[in-house]
Amino acid sequence: MHTFTFVTPGKVLCGAGAASDGRLAAEARLLGKKPLLVCGKSLETSGMLARILATLPEAQVHLGVPPEPSLTDCAVAQAAAHGCDSVIAIGGGSVLDVAKAAALPGSVYDYFDGKLTVPEQALDALPILAMPTTAGTGSEATWVGVYTDKRGTTPKKASIRGGAMLPRTVILDATLSVSCPPHVTAYSGMDAFVQAIEAFVSRGANPFTDPLALQAAFDIAEWLPAAFRDGESLEARERMLIASYCAGMALNTARLGLVHGIAHPVGARTGAAHGLLCALLLPPVIRFNLGADLDRYSDIAIGLGAPREDLAAFAEKWLDDFSIPRHLSDLGLQRSDFDAIIAETLVSGSTKANPRTVHESDVRDVLEACW
Ligand SMILES: [Fe+2]
Repeated sequence: MHTFTFVTPGKVLCGAGAASDGRLAAEARLLGKKPLLVCGKSLETSGMLARILATLPEAQVHLGVPPEPSLTDCAVAQAAAHGCDSVIAIGGGSVLDVAKAAALPGSVYDYFDGKLTVPEQALDALPILAMPTTAGTGSEATWVGVYTDKRGTTPKKASIRGGAMLPRTVILDATLSVSCPPHVTAYSGMDAFVQAIEAFVSRGANPFTDPLALQAAFDIAEWLPAAFRDGESLEARERMLIASYCAGMALNTARLGLVHGIAHPVGARTGAAHGLLCALLLPPVIRFNLGADLDRYSDIAIGLGAPREDLAAFAEKWLDDFSIPRHLSDLGLQRSDFDAIIAETLVSGSTKANPRTVHESDVRDVLEACW
């Protein structure tokens, strides 16, 4: 018997060139007359923004979302959405997350502090159209946004979630990700790989998320090296966009695990790229979870062509292949941060979904293994 909820965006359109050939504009006009277009500066410098606006001149543009966005970045985007009736998000995970916050009717600080609950009905917020430019966070498929709260002395990274933050429409256009540099391709691709693995072994996994998560992991293993080597390959880029979207659909209700539980407090303190941290933390977390003799890792190992006991080594090899740093000590973290990181990890929703129960000493062991 199962008890679960499964939700996905209402429509996904996949097609190279859709951003600028009129398909994005047509989909946007189904959601509203005056959209706020949230994007990063690279969309402007590449010339793509001008091509999009040529087909969608009514859009109001909000440019320049930084990596690991803060609540203030969200509040600024919310103000920019004043007078708009829909939100178009085109960018990496940070842009998509800020755009989701811009669509909300109340103060982003109140949602973050738990004083307000995100409406479950999409009708209570601005409708969102999401186009990812990186194959990574899968944010286009989820009702979650991850933000850094910089109000206190120590930055705190946490999520806001709810039905109204789920995009109504998703467009996957591989031409938007061909300019993504190799290191960003690797980091974001590893985030998607970790999300697929964590969603598959999560306590929240269900019969709908299982095939999505497993296929995403296999497809990323097959196509991420190609996208890393040859960024111009539209086929590799499209396969990665589809795989990370599938991983996003899976994690949205299956939740994640200990890698993400640790990555958020470490990311808030170091500013290190989220996908880099996920890649670095994956091997010791797999070793910890394998200690509980979990059958699900066998399914992953079979598909990846690796012996079950060698899964962590398989993940470790990618760190070398993609030139990903192996040590937290190289990222500006201090050992004196460990106690606070452990405390934040243990209360995280991701950690609670980890298939093996996590104790304080387990988190410390993982941190030490990456030190
Ligand atoms: Fe992630």
